[in-house]
Amino acid sequence: MPGVEVRVEGLTKSFGRANIWSDVTLTLPPGEVSVLLGPSGTGKSVFLKSLIGLLKPEKGSIVIHDTDLVRCSENRLYEIRKLFGVLFQDGALFGSMNLYDN
Ligand SMILES: Nc1ncnc2c1ncn2[C@@H]1O[C@H](COP(=O)(O)OP(=O)(O)O)[C@@H](O)[C@H]1O
Ligand SMILES: [Mg+2]
Repeated sequence: MPGVEVRVEGLTKSFGRANIWSDVTLTLPPGEVSVLLGPSGTGKSVFLKSLIGLLKPEKGSIVIHDTDLVRCSENRLYEIRKLFGVLFQDGALFGSMNLYDN
């Protein structure tokens, strides 16, 4: 079957004292189109950035091919990232990186 399964369990992300979402558990089935909907500022981009390892949630796991992206090595994360394609809403700068790193 084409595509990969993404298993998210108990995922929690905060910036300082601002909790963005907590205890998110879901499975994105392989070979299907999944859509994340919600009002502006509710954490969709933070969730997607977590799925490709740009942001580190402080609790929970994101498992792809038996690898937990929240805890794996940089080398393994690099390999897993090759499975993703990202199309930006506008522009193409990573908000999590400074100008030099972009
Ligand atoms: N790097 C960051 N540092 C601090 N707060 C952030 C950061 N990135 C996003 N946020 C905050 O997280 C919340 C969710 O943002 P975001 O995921 O961009 O929402 P959207 O659902 O519109 O994509 C917002 O309150 C935003 O200000
Ligand atoms: Mg967004």
